[in-house]
Amino acid sequence: MNKRFYITTAIDYVNGAPHLGHAYEKVIADVIARGQRALGHEAFFLTGLDEHGQKVQQAAQAEGKPTQAYVDELAAVWKTFAHTLQLSNNDFIRTTEPRHKQVVAALLTKLHAQGDIYKAEYRGWYSWRQETFLTHKDRNPDGSWDPIYGEVRELVEENWYFKMGQYQQWLLEHIEANPDFVYPDYRRNEVLGFLKKEPLADLCISRPRERLNWGIPMPFDPDYVNYVWFDALTNYITVPASQGDPAILAALPDLQSQISNPTSQISLWPADIHVIGKDILKFHAVYWPIMLHAGGLPLPRQIVVHGWWQKEGAKISKTTGNIVDPIAVINEWGLDAFRFYVLRELDIGPDGNWTDSGFAARYTAELANGLGNLVNRSLSMLHRYRQGVVPERSTELAGDAATAVDRVRRQLATCELQAAVQSVWTLVARANQYVDHTAPFKLAKDPAQAGRLDAVLYNLVETCRILAVLLWPFLPTTAGRIYEQLGCTGVPDQLALADWGGAQPGHTLGKPEPLFPRKEPSRP
Ligand code: MSP
Repeated sequence: MNKRFYITTAIDYVNGAPHLGHAYEKVIADVIARGQRALGHEAFFLTGLDEHGQKVQQAAQAEGKPTQAYVDELAAVWKTFAHTLQLSNNDFIRTTEPRHKQVVAALLTKLHAQGDIYKAEYRGWYSWRQETFLTHKDRNPDGSWDPIYGEVRELVEENWYFKMGQYQQWLLEHIEANPDFVYPDYRRNEVLGFLKKEPLADLCISRPRERLNWGIPMPFDPDYVNYVWFDALTNYITVPASQGDPAILAALPDLQSQISNPTSQISLWPADIHVIGKDILKFHAVYWPIMLHAGGLPLPRQIVVHGWWQKEGAKISKTTGNIVDPIAVINEWGLDAFRFYVLRELDIGPDGNWTDSGFAARYTAELANGLGNLVNRSLSMLHRYRQGVVPERSTELAGDAATAVDRVRRQLATCELQAAVQSVWTLVARANQYVDHTAPFKLAKDPAQAGRLDAVLYNLVETCRILAVLLWPFLPTTAGRIYEQLGCTGVPDQLALADWGGAQPGHTLGKPEPLFPRKEPSRP
């Protein structure tokens, strides 16, 4: 059984509507997944929802709804959102599903049986809003608690603990020996710094049911539910387990009997990439690897950490109204304009700043005047001067196209998505410059230049075809539309189609339609 490339996103808290940050992360992961498939690999892309925990329970209470009904309603909204973004996900996990609860229970049972989980009394200051115990280091200099913690009360309670501390040295060595484990490297250094600074405390992984009942029961103690982060992280192995993944079944053999269709087993684990935001790095680069290691499971190959978006230089916040509503942007400008802006504007790693004027400027310059104009004028000229029929082959732009294809291949494989988009646009710019230099409208006026005009038109039409192939992972609708306008059948979803010469002489093109109509942004 061949192992497939397996990529995941963070699973979003289902306590509100999706925003720019959620959309950005899902688009990045989608591009990487589509990129792998375009490179000829089978890829499995998972996204989904984190539905347990206090935040979700409180949000449901605030709306006066039973929690399950509340999450069911929102899950439908989020699934539609994934569809709107044209995510090519192969599954969508919800942590309230029975398949997930089984895997969490199996992992907890194993860790408990081997003595990695113990019960102890804890006394501490508890933040109800953040669902976590605080330490004195979290206090303001005057001894008060920051309002971000909400109500803070002293609490004494028994809970279940996971012996994480004993794995600290092992994890440090793993991260040092695997420089690619956390990407980019400055995030890796953050994790190493954290691990070297102080001893890792054992992790409290339960909540008493009397305080929080919206969670997965601890299989060996019905008075407690599982801590939401332990539950949420486990989602990454739930779906492979439900697909009969051999690496997971070897470590958690009790799950064998729960697989729905044992004949269609696929191998996914270990994950190749977990895509996450910088705020949840510690959970993914410290807690999760330790949970897996203790459970006898191999570790993911890489954790890819993206930065956070601001809008117009300020924090995105519902309370101040400083938000970007991705659905409104998509309705106004089209999905591919949204995908293009976030991918082109922000590299994976640093923080980004969304500006409405920057969005409109990129739309006009790079989409409408750059790509859109190139495709439209190339196809229109072929119709005007050659009745839409592809002339004899010529190779003048073949070298430029090959350079772009090589770069995009490499950059897709290394998650350098912003650079990959730039590589595609270098070819767009080169082809637009070629139109300006060769001036086909002048050549058309001189019958002696008919052969030269054929050559120019072939180079343009073939470059447009290759651009469709290169664009597929990033802007799938646009790639499909270019292909359709060229009269090509199928979808340009394989980079192998980007070899020069694919446009067949004698083939008749379809009708050109503007890809990105020029427009003014609507004013409020
Ligand atoms: N439920 C947890 C993740 C569990 S993963 C096992 C969670 N959910 S979240 O809804 O708060 O965030 C989901 C993802 O969106 C995170 O990776 C987070 O970094 C990302 N973003 C949330 N706001 C963001 C921005 N403003 N900008 C970019 N990404 C942001 O955390």
